[in-house]
Order: sequence, then structure tokens, then C-alpha cells
Amino acid sequence: MRKEFEAMQVGPVRGYTSSQIILHWLIVVLVLFQLIFGESMSSVFRAAQRGTTPDPNDATLATLHIWVGFAILAAVVIRLALRLRQGPPPPPEGQSPVLEWIATATHWLFYFLLFAVPISGIVAYYWQPAAGEVHELGKPAFIILIVLHAGAALWHQFWLRDGLLMRMLKPGA
Ligand code: HEM
Repeated sequence: MRKEFEAMQVGPVRGYTSSQIILHWLIVVLVLFQLIFGESMSSVFRAAQRGTTPDPNDATLATLHIWVGFAILAAVVIRLALRLRQGPPPPPEGQSPVLEWIATATHWLFYFLLFAVPISGIVAYYWQPAAGEVHELGKPAFIILIVLHAGAALWHQFWLRDGLLMRMLKPGA
């Protein structure tokens, strides 16, 4: 059994696996939810600091914000473990080293934010409210990275037509 497993590991990595693809798009949906509805958490947090009662809708969205934050953290732990175990697929053919470097840096910055933003939120909520200032920097940082990253993926797909987007849609592509 172990031999069969080792045999499966031999050879260059071909694309992303279905678990990596599912986790990528699950995290996209969860992060977008946080970016769109995160203000409710800020309102509830400020109301708690002032000792006033928050709006009931904000209170519901704030509870969801906490659970979605924990879900993102769990998903990124699994995702990073899969990435470290199987390594990244090779860059698209003919990609310049500079663009390759920017793509790799963007991916690692995403991983950094996907850990740092939920963890600073947990620290702010449970122990040290001042960490909320670090947590709030996550929103503009994510927006900049998402615009760069999604723009690059669409540029590859529709301008260079090298099928890069398919790597995150079809296992092994
Ligand atoms: C919250 C938004 C997003 C986050 C956090 C995110 C994160 C990431 C990360 C970390 C990787 C690197 C995977 C690895 O090798 O470990 C990646 C790859 C990729 N993402 Fe995203 N992504 C987001 C949105 C999007 C969107 C909107 C698109 C499409 C328009 C997209 C398309 C891709 C593609 C095609 C790859 C593979 C790139 C390659 O193989 O070189 N992503 N994403």
C-alpha cells in the first residue's frame, strides 16, 4: 500500500487536485462574504465598547463574521498542508521569470493574509481590542490582492489564451 502511495507521488505535479480547487473557490466565497458584510462586525464592536445596544441585523451578521472567520482559518490550514505536501504545479509555458515571481509573491501574500487577518480578529475579539486596528487593514490589502490576482487570471485566460484559469477549474489541467 505504501509502495503504491509512493509511486503516485513520483513525477512532476500536474495541476491542482479537486480538493485544492474546491478549497480555493470555497475560500473565495467566504472572503468575499467577509469583505461585503464585515462592517456589521465593526458596528457591533464599537457598540460594545460604547456600552450601547447594536442593531439586531448587525448582531446576526457579526456572529456570522466570527464563524466564517474560523471557517477560513480551518480551510487555509488544510489548503496549505495540501500545497506543502504536493508542491505547486509548474508555471505556464513561456511565462517570464518576473511575472512568475510576482505570481508566486501574490500567492504567498494571500496565504499570509488568510492567516494574519482571522488571527488578529480572534485576538481583538477575545483578548486585545487594539489588535482590531491590524485586523481592519486586511480589507484594503485583500481588495488590492484580489484585483491583481483575478485580473492576472483573466488576462491569462482571455488575452494570452494559455488556459491558466482552467488550472483552477479542472483537476490536473
Ligand atoms: C478571495 C479571493 C482569492 C484568493 C484568496 C485566492 C488565492 C489563491 C492562491 C493562494 C493561489 C495559489 C495556489 C497555490 O499554488 O497554492 C491561487 C491560485 C489561482 N487563483 Fe486564486 N484567489 C482568489 C480569487 C481568484 C479569482 C477571482 C480567480 C479568477 C478570476 C482566481 C484564479 C486563480 C487561478 C487561475 C490560480 C492558479 C494560478 C496558477 O496556477 O499559477 N483566484 N489563488
